[in-house]
Amino acid sequence: MEKRALLYSGKAKDVYATDDPNLCIVHFRDSATAFNALKKSEIAGKGELNNLISAHFFDLLASHGVETHFVGSLGPREMLVRRLEIIKVEVVVRNITAGSLAKRLGLPEGLPVTPPVLEYYYKDDTLGDPLVNDSHILSFGWASAAELSTIAAAARQVNDILLPALRKLDLLLVDFKLEFGRHAGRVMLGDEISPDTCRFWDAQTREKLDKDRFRRDLGGVAEAYQEIYRRLKGGTPNV
Ligand code: TMP
Repeated sequence: MEKRALLYSGKAKDVYATDDPNLCIVHFRDSATAFNALKKSEIAGKGELNNLISAHFFDLLASHGVETHFVGSLGPREMLVRRLEIIKVEVVVRNITAGSLAKRLGLPEGLPVTPPVLEYYYKDDTLGDPLVNDSHILSFGWASAAELSTIAAAARQVNDILLPALRKLDLLLVDFKLEFGRHAGRVMLGDEISPDTCRFWDAQTREKLDKDRFRRDLGGVAEAYQEIYRRLKGGTPNV
């Protein structure tokens, strides 16, 4: 597989074309941003950890029949993926109150959300990714009704797979964000699944083991990401 032109550079990842028009290479950088990139830093080793953690979750989901863009790992910081036409909707699933949900509804963090809440955000950095609902998505044509029902079912299925798998590792899956895209006429899961895009709490201590450590200046960011890797893979990567 030959790496070709840089197609897109995001806040933490770069996407390259390959010699196959159906495939791209995603390169995970160490960059960390929060609050729509108002806060920026580099966290040594984060790119590698997020790449390896995402690959682990994509493999797990594929083994349960979830269609994802992941084709395979290419190295410590890169994965080969199917080229998607991104759907401009971010999907958030919440099992425990935290973050913007707690803030918006005036709730303390840590309350169970039963059944889990599904939220949609319009993916537009200039607008700060505003919260939207199904009817906005359909009325503005960001996804068709059939695509939206596939996305909603897939997001719930991902939660049904990851929640118990993480609970066995003594981790609470508080919430997470997914992105979907179109490939060869099908909707599939894209982007990444990592401590950048999920909230993970230790089940015993409720210690935060995700990007909230960076967002809130709690320190120990790289150590938290390493701890997630260690619980998933039983060791440390050769960073
Ligand atoms: P929120 O509580 O800030 O809305 O975040 C919900 C989930 O989405 C949380 O697991 C973090 C993730 N997330 C992203 O992946 N990207 C983002 O830009 C934001 C704001 C949240």
